[in-house]
Amino acid sequence: AENHRESMLLVTNYAAKFFQETMWDTAEGKNIGLSYFKERGFTTEIIKKFELGYSPDHWEAFTGTAINKKYKPELLEETGLSIKRDNGTLYDRWRGRVMFPIHGFTGRVIAFGGRTLKTDKNVPKYVNSPESEIYHKSNVLYGLFFAKKAIRDEDNCYLVEGYADVLSVHQAGIENVVASSGTSLTVEQIRLIGRFTKNITILYDGDAAGIKASLRGLDLILEEGLNVKVVLFPDGHDPDSYVRQVGSSAFKTYIDQNRKDFILYKTSILLKEAGNDPIQRANVIREIVESIARIPDSIKQSVFVRECSQQLQIDERILLSELNKMRLAKS
Ligand code: CTP
Ligand code: MN
Ligand code: MN
Ligand code: MN
Ligand code: MN
Repeated sequence: AENHRESMLLVTNYAAKFFQETMWDTAEGKNIGLSYFKERGFTTEIIKKFELGYSPDHWEAFTGTAINKKYKPELLEETGLSIKRDNGTLYDRWRGRVMFPIHGFTGRVIAFGGRTLKTDKNVPKYVNSPESEIYHKSNVLYGLFFAKKAIRDEDNCYLVEGYADVLSVHQAGIENVVASSGTSLTVEQIRLIGRFTKNITILYDGDAAGIKASLRGLDLILEEGLNVKVVLFPDGHDPDSYVRQVGSSAFKTYIDQNRKDFILYKTSILLKEAGNDPIQRANVIREIVESIARIPDSIKQSVFVRECSQQLQIDERILLSELNKMRLAKS
Protein backbone atom coordinates (compact mmCIF):
# COMPACT_ATOMS: atom_id res chain seq x y z
CA ALA A 1 0.00 0.00 0.00
CA GLU A 2 2.94 2.29 0.72
CA ASN A 3 4.21 1.63 -2.81
CA HIS A 4 0.83 2.49 -4.20
CA ARG A 5 0.68 5.77 -2.30
CA GLU A 6 4.17 6.58 -3.55
CA SER A 7 3.06 5.96 -7.15
CA MET A 8 0.09 8.26 -6.62
CA LEU A 9 2.35 10.96 -5.19
CA LEU A 10 4.64 10.72 -8.21
CA VAL A 11 1.60 11.50 -10.37
CA THR A 12 0.28 14.41 -8.31
CA ASN A 13 3.74 15.95 -8.12
CA TYR A 14 4.25 15.50 -11.84
CA ALA A 15 0.90 17.24 -12.34
CA ALA A 16 1.94 20.15 -10.14
CA LYS A 17 5.04 20.59 -12.32
CA PHE A 18 2.91 20.34 -15.46
CA PHE A 19 0.50 23.06 -14.26
CA GLN A 20 3.41 25.28 -13.23
CA GLU A 21 5.23 24.86 -16.54
CA THR A 22 2.02 25.50 -18.42
CA MET A 23 1.61 28.77 -16.55
CA TRP A 24 5.17 30.04 -16.84
CA ASP A 25 6.20 28.67 -20.23
CA THR A 26 3.16 28.75 -22.54
CA ALA A 27 1.39 31.72 -24.09
CA GLU A 28 -2.01 30.60 -22.81
CA GLY A 29 -0.61 30.07 -19.33
CA LYS A 30 1.09 33.45 -19.18
CA ASN A 31 -1.74 35.43 -20.74
CA ILE A 32 -4.52 33.83 -18.75
CA GLY A 33 -3.21 32.11 -15.62
CA LEU A 34 -0.23 34.19 -14.63
CA SER A 35 -1.90 37.49 -15.47
CA TYR A 36 -4.88 36.46 -13.34
CA PHE A 37 -2.66 35.90 -10.30
CA LYS A 38 -0.74 39.12 -10.97
CA GLU A 39 -3.95 41.10 -11.29
CA ARG A 40 -5.04 39.68 -7.94
CA GLY A 41 -1.91 41.20 -6.50
CA PHE A 42 0.10 38.06 -5.84
CA THR A 43 3.86 38.51 -6.17
CA THR A 44 6.11 36.23 -8.23
CA GLU A 45 7.66 35.12 -4.97
CA ILE A 46 4.39 33.91 -3.46
CA ILE A 47 3.22 32.36 -6.75
CA LYS A 48 6.43 30.32 -6.91
CA LYS A 49 6.52 29.46 -3.22
CA PHE A 50 3.02 27.98 -3.27
CA GLU A 51 3.69 26.40 -6.68
CA LEU A 52 0.58 27.88 -8.28
CA GLY A 53 -0.19 26.88 -11.84
CA TYR A 54 -2.64 26.81 -14.69
CA SER A 55 -4.51 23.96 -16.41
CA PRO A 56 -4.90 24.39 -20.19
CA ASP A 57 -8.39 24.91 -21.54
CA HIS A 58 -8.50 21.60 -23.43
CA TRP A 59 -10.10 18.25 -22.64
CA GLU A 60 -6.98 16.10 -22.62
CA ALA A 61 -3.98 18.41 -22.39
CA PHE A 62 -2.80 17.06 -19.05
CA THR A 63 -4.10 13.50 -19.39
CA GLY A 64 -2.61 13.05 -22.88
CA THR A 65 0.80 14.38 -21.87
CA ALA A 66 0.87 12.25 -18.72
CA ILE A 67 -0.03 9.09 -20.64
CA ASN A 68 2.69 9.83 -23.21
CA LYS A 69 5.10 10.04 -20.30
CA LYS A 70 3.96 6.54 -19.22
CA TYR A 71 1.98 7.54 -16.15
CA LYS A 72 -0.61 4.82 -15.61
CA PRO A 73 -4.22 5.68 -16.49
CA GLU A 74 -5.49 4.04 -13.26
CA LEU A 75 -3.27 6.35 -11.22
CA LEU A 76 -4.49 9.41 -13.13
CA GLU A 77 -8.01 8.43 -12.21
CA GLU A 78 -7.29 7.43 -8.60
CA THR A 79 -5.58 10.73 -7.89
CA GLY A 80 -8.58 12.56 -9.34
CA LEU A 81 -6.50 14.34 -11.95
CA SER A 82 -8.43 12.66 -14.75
CA ILE A 83 -12.04 11.54 -15.01
CA LYS A 84 -13.22 8.44 -16.88
CA ARG A 85 -15.82 8.74 -19.63
CA ASP A 86 -18.43 6.01 -20.19
CA ASN A 87 -16.34 4.71 -23.09
CA GLY A 88 -13.36 4.26 -20.78
CA THR A 89 -11.22 7.15 -22.04
CA LEU A 90 -9.96 9.81 -19.66
CA TYR A 91 -10.27 13.60 -19.67
CA ASP A 92 -8.84 16.40 -17.50
CA ARG A 93 -10.71 17.31 -14.32
CA TRP A 94 -9.48 20.90 -14.53
CA ARG A 95 -9.65 22.84 -17.76
CA GLY A 96 -8.85 26.52 -18.02
CA ARG A 97 -8.52 26.96 -14.26
CA VAL A 98 -5.80 28.42 -12.09
CA MET A 99 -4.40 25.70 -9.88
CA PHE A 100 -3.65 25.72 -6.16
CA PRO A 101 -1.65 22.60 -5.22
CA ILE A 102 -2.38 21.28 -1.75
CA HIS A 103 0.76 20.15 0.05
CA GLY A 104 0.92 17.36 2.56
CA PHE A 105 2.79 17.42 5.81
CA THR A 106 6.18 16.88 4.18
CA GLY A 107 5.63 19.37 1.39
CA ARG A 108 4.66 17.01 -1.40
CA VAL A 109 1.59 17.79 -3.48
CA ILE A 110 -1.32 15.52 -2.56
CA ALA A 111 -4.27 17.29 -4.21
CA PHE A 112 -5.45 20.46 -5.98
CA GLY A 113 -8.01 23.19 -5.88
CA GLY A 114 -8.76 24.81 -9.22
CA ARG A 115 -10.44 28.19 -9.57
CA THR A 116 -12.45 29.15 -12.61
CA LEU A 117 -11.70 32.45 -14.33
CA LYS A 118 -15.28 32.78 -15.54
CA THR A 119 -17.83 34.92 -13.78
CA ASP A 120 -20.70 32.65 -14.85
CA LYS A 121 -22.72 31.83 -11.72
CA ASN A 122 -23.50 28.32 -12.99
CA VAL A 123 -19.84 27.33 -12.99
CA PRO A 124 -18.54 26.23 -9.58
CA LYS A 125 -15.88 28.71 -8.46
CA TYR A 126 -13.60 26.07 -7.01
CA VAL A 127 -13.24 22.43 -7.99
CA ASN A 128 -11.21 20.33 -5.57
CA SER A 129 -9.59 16.91 -5.85
CA PRO A 130 -11.82 14.09 -4.65
CA GLU A 131 -10.86 12.02 -1.61
CA SER A 132 -8.17 9.48 -2.36
CA GLU A 133 -5.67 7.24 -0.65
CA ILE A 134 -3.29 10.19 -0.40
CA TYR A 135 -5.86 12.94 0.19
CA HIS A 136 -8.20 12.77 3.16
CA LYS A 137 -9.52 16.29 3.17
CA SER A 138 -10.73 16.30 6.75
CA ASN A 139 -7.11 15.72 7.83
CA VAL A 140 -5.52 18.40 5.68
CA LEU A 141 -5.03 22.12 6.15
CA TYR A 142 -4.14 24.23 3.14
CA GLY A 143 -0.87 26.07 3.73
CA LEU A 144 0.22 24.13 6.82
CA PHE A 145 3.50 23.03 5.28
CA PHE A 146 4.46 26.69 4.71
CA ALA A 147 3.04 27.85 8.04
CA LYS A 148 4.16 25.37 10.64
CA LYS A 149 7.43 27.01 11.62
CA ALA A 150 5.74 30.41 12.01
CA ILE A 151 2.85 28.84 13.95
CA ARG A 152 5.34 27.46 16.45
CA ASP A 153 7.36 30.68 16.62
CA GLU A 154 4.28 32.89 17.05
CA ASP A 155 2.50 30.32 19.23
CA ASN A 156 -0.70 31.10 17.31
CA CYS A 157 -2.37 29.90 14.13
CA TYR A 158 -4.61 32.07 11.96
CA LEU A 159 -7.43 30.12 10.39
CA VAL A 160 -8.99 31.46 7.18
CA GLU A 161 -11.60 30.11 4.76
CA GLY A 162 -9.88 29.97 1.41
CA TYR A 163 -6.82 29.51 -0.73
CA ALA A 164 -6.57 33.18 -1.71
CA ASP A 165 -6.85 34.22 1.95
CA VAL A 166 -3.86 32.05 2.88
CA LEU A 167 -1.78 33.51 0.05
CA SER A 168 -2.64 37.14 0.73
CA VAL A 169 -2.17 36.93 4.47
CA HIS A 170 1.11 35.06 4.02
CA GLN A 171 2.24 37.65 1.49
CA ALA A 172 1.40 40.38 3.98
CA GLY A 173 4.03 38.88 6.26
CA ILE A 174 1.74 36.85 8.50
CA GLU A 175 3.01 33.36 7.71
CA ASN A 176 1.22 31.44 10.47
CA VAL A 177 -1.95 31.02 8.43
CA VAL A 178 -3.89 27.97 7.17
CA ALA A 179 -7.27 27.27 5.60
CA SER A 180 -9.65 24.39 6.05
CA SER A 181 -10.48 24.79 2.31
CA GLY A 182 -13.20 22.75 0.80
CA THR A 183 -14.67 21.44 4.05
CA SER A 184 -16.01 22.94 7.20
CA LEU A 185 -13.46 22.78 10.00
CA THR A 186 -12.94 19.29 11.46
CA VAL A 187 -11.72 17.94 14.77
CA GLU A 188 -8.78 16.31 12.97
CA GLN A 189 -7.73 19.67 11.54
CA ILE A 190 -7.87 21.27 14.99
CA ARG A 191 -5.72 18.45 16.45
CA LEU A 192 -3.25 18.97 13.63
CA ILE A 193 -2.91 22.64 14.59
CA GLY A 194 -2.70 21.55 18.23
CA ARG A 195 0.63 19.87 17.54
CA PHE A 196 2.14 23.31 16.94
CA THR A 197 0.16 25.68 19.15
CA LYS A 198 -2.78 25.77 21.52
CA ASN A 199 -3.94 29.15 20.19
CA ILE A 200 -6.14 29.64 17.15
CA THR A 201 -7.39 32.93 15.74
CA ILE A 202 -10.32 32.63 13.33
CA LEU A 203 -10.31 35.05 10.37
CA TYR A 204 -13.38 34.00 8.43
CA ASP A 205 -15.31 35.97 5.82
CA GLY A 206 -17.38 38.88 7.12
CA ASP A 207 -20.63 37.51 5.73
CA ALA A 208 -23.49 35.44 7.17
CA ALA A 209 -21.88 32.15 6.13
CA GLY A 210 -18.54 33.14 7.63
CA ILE A 211 -20.09 34.19 10.93
CA LYS A 212 -22.08 30.99 11.17
CA ALA A 213 -18.98 28.92 10.42
CA SER A 214 -16.97 30.86 13.01
CA LEU A 215 -19.49 30.12 15.78
CA ARG A 216 -19.44 26.42 14.93
CA GLY A 217 -15.64 26.46 14.63
CA LEU A 218 -15.08 28.10 17.98
CA ASP A 219 -17.17 25.49 19.81
CA LEU A 220 -15.18 22.69 18.16
CA ILE A 221 -11.91 24.37 19.09
CA LEU A 222 -13.01 24.84 22.71
CA GLU A 223 -14.01 21.18 22.92
CA GLU A 224 -10.53 20.18 21.80
CA GLY A 225 -9.12 22.19 24.70
CA LEU A 226 -7.52 24.89 22.54
CA ASN A 227 -7.87 28.64 23.00
CA VAL A 228 -9.75 30.57 20.37
CA LYS A 229 -10.06 34.20 19.36
CA VAL A 230 -11.96 35.67 16.44
CA VAL A 231 -11.57 38.70 14.19
CA LEU A 232 -14.66 39.86 12.32
CA PHE A 233 -14.03 41.64 9.02
CA PRO A 234 -16.16 44.51 7.72
CA ASP A 235 -19.22 43.36 5.86
CA GLY A 236 -18.48 41.51 2.64
CA HIS A 237 -14.72 41.38 3.17
CA ASP A 238 -12.58 38.32 3.53
CA PRO A 239 -8.93 38.51 4.68
CA ASP A 240 -7.73 38.53 1.06
CA SER A 241 -9.96 41.36 -0.12
CA TYR A 242 -9.35 43.34 3.06
CA VAL A 243 -5.57 43.16 2.98
CA ARG A 244 -5.67 44.18 -0.67
CA GLN A 245 -7.86 47.18 0.14
CA VAL A 246 -5.98 48.52 3.16
CA GLY A 247 -2.42 47.17 2.75
CA SER A 248 -0.29 44.95 5.00
CA SER A 249 0.37 47.28 7.88
CA ALA A 250 -3.22 48.50 8.29
CA PHE A 251 -4.31 44.89 8.04
CA LYS A 252 -2.07 43.89 10.94
CA THR A 253 -3.32 46.81 12.99
CA TYR A 254 -6.92 45.84 12.24
CA ILE A 255 -6.31 42.29 13.43
CA ASP A 256 -4.63 43.43 16.62
CA GLN A 257 -7.39 45.89 17.44
CA ASN A 258 -10.32 43.65 16.54
CA ARG A 259 -9.19 40.34 17.97
CA LYS A 260 -11.88 39.25 20.40
CA ASP A 261 -11.92 36.36 22.82
CA PHE A 262 -14.71 33.94 22.10
CA ILE A 263 -17.05 35.26 24.81
CA LEU A 264 -16.82 38.83 23.64
CA TYR A 265 -17.17 37.76 20.00
CA LYS A 266 -20.09 35.43 20.53
CA THR A 267 -21.82 37.90 22.80
CA SER A 268 -21.52 40.74 20.33
CA ILE A 269 -22.81 38.64 17.44
CA LEU A 270 -25.71 37.10 19.33
CA LEU A 271 -26.79 40.26 21.14
CA LYS A 272 -26.97 42.06 17.81
CA GLU A 273 -29.32 39.35 16.55
CA ALA A 274 -31.38 39.34 19.76
CA GLY A 275 -32.08 43.07 19.77
CA ASN A 276 -34.14 44.15 22.78
CA ASP A 277 -36.22 41.02 23.18
CA PRO A 278 -35.60 39.85 26.79
CA ILE A 279 -36.29 36.18 26.05
CA GLN A 280 -33.80 36.18 23.20
CA ARG A 281 -31.27 37.97 25.39
CA ALA A 282 -31.67 35.23 27.99
CA ASN A 283 -31.02 32.68 25.27
CA VAL A 284 -27.81 34.48 24.39
CA ILE A 285 -26.58 33.93 27.93
CA ARG A 286 -27.48 30.26 27.75
CA GLU A 287 -25.64 29.91 24.45
CA ILE A 288 -22.49 31.46 25.87
CA VAL A 289 -22.64 29.15 28.88
CA GLU A 290 -23.06 26.27 26.45
CA SER A 291 -19.76 27.21 24.82
CA ILE A 292 -18.05 27.48 28.21
CA ALA A 293 -19.40 24.02 29.12
CA ARG A 294 -17.45 22.57 26.19
CA ILE A 295 -14.07 23.56 27.65
CA PRO A 296 -12.50 20.45 29.21
CA ASP A 297 -10.42 22.40 31.76
CA SER A 298 -12.54 23.50 34.73
CA ILE A 299 -10.12 26.22 35.81
CA LYS A 300 -10.42 27.82 32.39
CA GLN A 301 -14.18 27.43 32.65
CA SER A 302 -14.28 29.43 35.85
CA VAL A 303 -12.18 32.20 34.34
CA PHE A 304 -14.61 32.50 31.46
CA VAL A 305 -17.62 32.37 33.76
CA ARG A 306 -16.21 35.40 35.54
CA GLU A 307 -15.61 37.22 32.28
CA CYS A 308 -19.07 36.37 31.05
CA SER A 309 -20.61 37.61 34.26
CA GLN A 310 -18.80 40.93 33.94
CA GLN A 311 -19.63 41.38 30.29
CA LEU A 312 -23.28 40.46 30.49
CA GLN A 313 -23.85 41.91 33.96
CA ILE A 314 -25.18 38.59 35.25
CA ASP A 315 -24.55 37.19 38.70
CA GLU A 316 -21.73 34.63 38.51
CA ARG A 317 -23.74 32.18 40.67
CA ILE A 318 -26.53 32.06 38.12
CA LEU A 319 -24.04 31.29 35.35
CA LEU A 320 -22.42 28.61 37.47
CA SER A 321 -25.71 26.91 38.21
CA GLU A 322 -26.55 26.91 34.49
CA LEU A 323 -23.12 25.50 33.77
CA ASN A 324 -23.62 22.73 36.31
CA LYS A 325 -26.97 21.81 34.79
CA MET A 326 -25.29 21.47 31.41
CA ARG A 327 -22.47 19.39 32.86
CA LEU A 328 -25.04 17.04 34.39
CA ALA A 329 -26.96 16.84 31.14
CA LYS A 330 -23.74 15.89 29.35
CA SER A 331 -22.64 13.15 31.76
N1 CTP B 1 -14.63 26.50 -1.78
C1 CTP B 1 -14.76 25.28 -2.43
N2 CTP B 1 -15.71 25.11 -3.40
C2 CTP B 1 -16.52 26.14 -3.76
C3 CTP B 1 -16.42 27.37 -3.11
C4 CTP B 1 -15.45 27.52 -2.12
O1 CTP B 1 -14.02 24.37 -2.11
N3 CTP B 1 -17.42 25.94 -4.74
C5 CTP B 1 -13.61 26.65 -0.75
C6 CTP B 1 -12.31 27.08 -1.39
O2 CTP B 1 -11.27 26.51 -0.65
C7 CTP B 1 -12.33 28.56 -1.20
C8 CTP B 1 -13.00 28.69 0.16
O3 CTP B 1 -13.95 27.64 0.18
O4 CTP B 1 -11.02 29.07 -1.19
C9 CTP B 1 -13.64 30.03 0.41
O5 CTP B 1 -14.77 30.18 -0.42
P1 CTP B 1 -15.30 31.62 -0.83
O6 CTP B 1 -15.23 32.56 0.29
O7 CTP B 1 -16.59 31.44 -1.53
O8 CTP B 1 -14.19 31.96 -1.90
P2 CTP B 1 -13.97 33.42 -2.42
O9 CTP B 1 -13.35 34.25 -1.37
O10 CTP B 1 -15.22 33.91 -3.01
O11 CTP B 1 -12.90 33.07 -3.56
P3 CTP B 1 -12.06 34.14 -4.37
O12 CTP B 1 -11.45 35.07 -3.40
O13 CTP B 1 -11.05 33.30 -5.09
O14 CTP B 1 -13.01 34.83 -5.30
MN1 MN C 1 -3.96 1.06 -2.91
MN1 MN D 1 -17.51 33.36 1.55
MN1 MN E 1 -14.00 34.35 0.71
MN1 MN F 1 -12.00 35.84 -1.54
